[in-house]
Amino acid sequence: EKRLTPYDAIGEEKLSSLVDAFYKRVGNHPDLIPIFPDDLSEVARKQKQFLTQFLGGPPLYTQEHGHPMMRARHLPHEITPLRAKAWLSCMSDAMDEVELEPSFRDFFYSRLAMTANHMINTPDENT
Ligand code: HEM
Repeated sequence: EKRLTPYDAIGEEKLSSLVDAFYKRVGNHPDLIPIFPDDLSEVARKQKQFLTQFLGGPPLYTQEHGHPMMRARHLPHEITPLRAKAWLSCMSDAMDEVELEPSFRDFFYSRLAMTANHMINTPDENT
């Protein structure tokens, strides 16, 4: 009866590997290092919760942290167009590493690209 969600398509284990592959790159990206903490384990944990619900899985992020309001939560951080590009390139490379199924990858990447662009709150000259 219950419809299969995109979360069912990727699965918990693959999503977790993707997020780990992603933050490994974030932690080494010169445009992103300045705004992220040295220890990325807590943000990776939250991102796994967030992306689970983003893909239609159980609302793990909301259960622990309340309404996502992602744009508001990013306002304390200078998210420039350059940083949004860097974030998406880390994600694209992480998707390559964990080998997402191509049509799922296109679907997920395009949703993340929309969300990343929505998060921009600072012009590039401030980078
Ligand atoms: C938190 C940067 C896009 C989801 C953060 C933090 C930074 C950041 C600096 C705070 C880390 C900390 O100090 O704990 C960026 C940049 C982006 C971006 C540069 C480029 C556009 C996104 C997107 C999503 C996302 C597209 C979701 C699809 C999250 C989540 C958190 C977070 C779930 C944790 C929020 C919390 O503390 O509860 N991000 N982000 N971010 N970001 Fe992003």
